[in-house]
Amino acid sequence: MLEHSRPTGRDGAQRRGNVLPLADPEVMSMVEAFAPGNLKFGVIGAGVQGLSHARCAAAAPNCELVAVCDLDEQKARTAGLQCGARHVFTDYHELLALEEIEAVSVVLPDHLHREVAAAAFAAGKHVLLEKPMATTIADAEAILAAQKTSGKQLMINWSNRWMHAFAQTKDSLDKGELGEPLYAYARLNNTLYVPTQMLSWAANTRLPFWLICHRYDIARWYFGSEAKRIHAVCRSVKLRSLGIDTPDFYQATVEFENGCVGNFESCWIMPESMPYMVDSKFELICSEGYVNIDPTHPVYQHATHNKQLDKGILFGDVMGVPVGFVYQAFQHFVNCCLRNQTPLITGEDGLQITRALVAMVESAETGQIVEL
Ligand SMILES: NC(=O)c1ccc[n+]([C@@H]2O[C@H](COP(=O)([O-])OP(=O)(O)OC[C@H]3O[C@@H](n4cnc5c(N)ncnc54)[C@H](O)[C@@H]3O)[C@@H](O)[C@H]2O)c1
Repeated sequence: MLEHSRPTGRDGAQRRGNVLPLADPEVMSMVEAFAPGNLKFGVIGAGVQGLSHARCAAAAPNCELVAVCDLDEQKARTAGLQCGARHVFTDYHELLALEEIEAVSVVLPDHLHREVAAAAFAAGKHVLLEKPMATTIADAEAILAAQKTSGKQLMINWSNRWMHAFAQTKDSLDKGELGEPLYAYARLNNTLYVPTQMLSWAANTRLPFWLICHRYDIARWYFGSEAKRIHAVCRSVKLRSLGIDTPDFYQATVEFENGCVGNFESCWIMPESMPYMVDSKFELICSEGYVNIDPTHPVYQHATHNKQLDKGILFGDVMGVPVGFVYQAFQHFVNCCLRNQTPLITGEDGLQITRALVAMVESAETGQIVEL
């Protein structure tokens, strides 16, 4: 059992627990926010998203960042130094060999998740695996099998579920306020910066794995059903002209087993002059209601003489500490590991979603409808 060595709430749930009855609602909400304990953590992959994981691990009151690893020593050192890790590695085997580490984030390029996730389970670690779970069904099945053998927790980090608009819509659906969900339209786009400058491995993934998966996860969560029939199209013009062999955009129509329908579209060739790197739209048509979510709506505009930025208020730092959905998703995983509870997004979810994403790519490449 893990030691209760650190305060677990703003002013320490441990101390509160000693003086207040457990049924006290304030105590219970603190318990919900931070499971007691101190989860020893490692982050594998210290790129754009891995640095974010390291910062969350350093900030979470019931988690301790022990080590960071990246093939690129400079990235590993920068993240380790910034977030106070005691160890920095360039070989993930060395990180996994540290017995004190109980859980790891695997934050590697989309197509490289399988080997490291499976090795982490074999080493007896809980795994927070970045989305997408994998880019092939075989890889997703192998990761799930490794988790089952280990008995450790696995969460696939579709962190957008922790955006308040998406979470509150789920709550409203569960309460029956919207009636039955029928149809979702979801768009998630990036500017050209992402495949040309941010990611060195854009040609190794496809938009269903990089972007559509976020919105597909939300729609599937709302619909409570699996994909039955998928028709998708894609085109390769702009990125191919730049020597990057991955399509510019995808559009996929998905019929679910329960009759719900989703339309998903993504591109990553929007001009870099756009005020924000992400463009998003989500509409949900229900039998008794309608929801329109634009999570990137510019509620915080930031203008200089060079450019206006729509910074949004979804995540970021307040007084140097990460806040928002990225941190909340991470905190949920830490709590689940400490409580030995199943996370909100499981490996089974990941496998089902992978099946649909692979079908989107197959349908777009073959021009055929794919039945699942
Ligand atoms: N949940 C989200 O909202 C979200 C956002 C961005 C990225 N992601 C996901 O996170 C993952 C990483 O994306 P990113 O944007 O950080 O990519 P990135 O290219 O910035 O970082 C990947 C890092 O992995 C390192 N790496 C590769 N192989 C390695 C190995 N064997 N051992 C150690 N390090 C290795 C690379 O050197 C690189 O620094 C992807 O799967 C991506 O889809 C999720």
